[in-house]
Amino acid sequence: MKFDTPATTNPIDQLKVIGRPTDRIDGPLKTTGTAPYANDRHDVAPNQAYGYVVVAGIAKGRVTAIDTSRARAAPRVLAVVTAQNAGPLGKGIFNVAALLAGPEVQHYHQAVGLVVAETFEQARSAAGLVRLDYELAPGAFDLSTASASAVKPKDGSSGPADAAVGDFAGAFAKAPVTLDATYTTPDQSHAMMEPHATVAVWEGDRLTVWTSNQMINWSAGDLARALGIAREKVRLVSPFVGGGFGGKLFLRADVLLAALGARATNRAVRVALPRPLMANNTTHRPATIQRIRIGCRRNGKIIAIGHESWSGNLPGGAAETAVNQTRLLYAGANRMTATRLAVLDLPEGSAMRAPGEASGMMALEIAMDEMAEKVGMDPVKFRVLNDTQEDPEKPGRPFSQRQLVKCLELGAERFAWNRRNPRPGRVRDGRWLVGMGMAAAFRNNLVTRSAARVRLDNRGVLTVETDMTDIGTGSYTIIAQTAAETMGLPLEKVAVRLGDSTFPVSCGSGGQWGGNNSTAGVYAACMKLRDAVAEKAGLDPAQAVFADGQVRGGDRRLALADIAGDAGLVAEDHIEYGDLDKRYQQSTFGAHFVEAAVDAATCEIRIRRMLAVCAAGRILNPKSARSQVIGAMTMGVGAALMEALEVDKRRGFFVNHDLASYEVPVHADIPHQEVIFLDETDPISSPMKAKGVGELGICGVAAAVANAVYNATGVRVRDYPITLDKLLHGLPA
Ligand code: MOS
Repeated sequence: MKFDTPATTNPIDQLKVIGRPTDRIDGPLKTTGTAPYANDRHDVAPNQAYGYVVVAGIAKGRVTAIDTSRARAAPRVLAVVTAQNAGPLGKGIFNVAALLAGPEVQHYHQAVGLVVAETFEQARSAAGLVRLDYELAPGAFDLSTASASAVKPKDGSSGPADAAVGDFAGAFAKAPVTLDATYTTPDQSHAMMEPHATVAVWEGDRLTVWTSNQMINWSAGDLARALGIAREKVRLVSPFVGGGFGGKLFLRADVLLAALGARATNRAVRVALPRPLMANNTTHRPATIQRIRIGCRRNGKIIAIGHESWSGNLPGGAAETAVNQTRLLYAGANRMTATRLAVLDLPEGSAMRAPGEASGMMALEIAMDEMAEKVGMDPVKFRVLNDTQEDPEKPGRPFSQRQLVKCLELGAERFAWNRRNPRPGRVRDGRWLVGMGMAAAFRNNLVTRSAARVRLDNRGVLTVETDMTDIGTGSYTIIAQTAAETMGLPLEKVAVRLGDSTFPVSCGSGGQWGGNNSTAGVYAACMKLRDAVAEKAGLDPAQAVFADGQVRGGDRRLALADIAGDAGLVAEDHIEYGDLDKRYQQSTFGAHFVEAAVDAATCEIRIRRMLAVCAAGRILNPKSARSQVIGAMTMGVGAALMEALEVDKRRGFFVNHDLASYEVPVHADIPHQEVIFLDETDPISSPMKAKGVGELGICGVAAAVANAVYNATGVRVRDYPITLDKLLHGLPA
């Protein structure tokens, strides 16, 4: 199905199933512990052996000698795989650093081998017997130093490295009120609950991996490329994913090493990455240094806005695109954005929930708070004043929908923002200093092809198959709702099968595009099935009404089960987009409000309440969408107050590489969250009229927290995370 003109009324608009807060259809599997996650797949092959990853203990250099003799001689060891005996390995498209290194080492904890043994304990014990000798090479590990030699990177998929409109420098120099401030965000880890894990089985020259992955098609392709085998020989299965946040967009070492271990031993081999290896062995959100300049008239109108960002990555890696939202979020005739990339020999930087915007909004939305104060305006009113209804870089190019002002104003009203004292450090509640802060939320909506297959059987059950993944987001449920709505079936009559590379290729889970695009693909397949049903029943497809498990036309009424018959009916289709995302800027919007309390003596920070108001097109399932947003708000609190991978700048690794030392929020840190979705549809986004929410929810949160802490204390922290030590010097007496 081609989608190149805005959607008109369609079966989704019935809203009998779509738009309802349906419980997750996979919920019982999760709550009973029976959802088969990758490392639980004892069922898929008998006689599984265990692999334990051997990793480099240097950040950069060479392995000069690797002695596996003691490991090979250890009890019940089956094989030791290294780059020396693994055979030729190709390179995938998506990984920058090799998943199995040697002799060259590109980053700390890069995998250099796999020990396979009969039990996990034997593999782990033998892995400790592998002896590695290194030749150390000097590396760059400090972004603040390396940024001096940063260069303009290639233009990326999310936009050009540099953009400019008007005369930024001239307008900024003349502006009566100016802000020029620099903000930093640290390296962050995805810290998802389920570690990367894989069971690999070869049958002849065919490989199947049961793994935990967000993008089935990308990763199956990369696995074939890495192994140098045909794509059709690889099957990748990932029906349940215990969180990804971007850390499972691509192959990781567990997948490739399990495949190599299985080939070396002729056994099914299971490999899980131990938690302490994940931070350095896999990817992370790269640290940024961001300089923001805003020039305003005295009335608060922005006339110049500039945003520059520096980040680092391994050679060949991408920059964190932290300036992108600044190209679109606020009005202002004179603008400049620039992205700079330094070489760093830290582990590979990559996508993490709202890559670009999450980091960019952490800085931009503090800057907006600072500027509001400088011009003497309320921060909500300052943002409303500087709203734009067209792409500020391309006047005349509209947004598909843009209700940022409504989000800001409704949020202010519901949060009782008028009770905020604009003078910082003035509100006391016993030992606590109390403050309120807010920020806008912004994240682009991306459209991308997505396919599905639907099969109707003689019981009237519709089975949906697509390689879409559910990474905890609710994909199973919204896909079932989409199919039920389109076919006029009750939800119980829909079965959803996901995460298998033998199914039609979907958009996958990434960039908050999964919800809208995967359901649009299912809708396309169901519309094709409706035609097939009508044709088989001898009805006019344009007139046929699908409801209650039946199809009606004229005075005829037939059960779908009977039309399907013993042979069943199958349809497969995909959604394919035209240029609506070029003609219109498609983005999602929101507003975050936070009340924080800071202990007047110790500076301990407590979040008291949070509100998010989101405008993201049609909300397909308010319950799963709310879960996405409250999860993202929680992650935003982590970014604001806790999360930082601490870099050992001499040896080049993340020191706090486990969940004991990499702090993330727990329930007690998040007492009260509220989410409001504006009642809107976006007919330009897809036939579903939906957009993404999973990344919108994090964008701006950390800045809202920072602004609340400022309002509470009068201390402006521009260096995340906002830990107690950064407040102590400036608290009111
Ligand atoms: Mo997302 S960072 O594209 O999983």
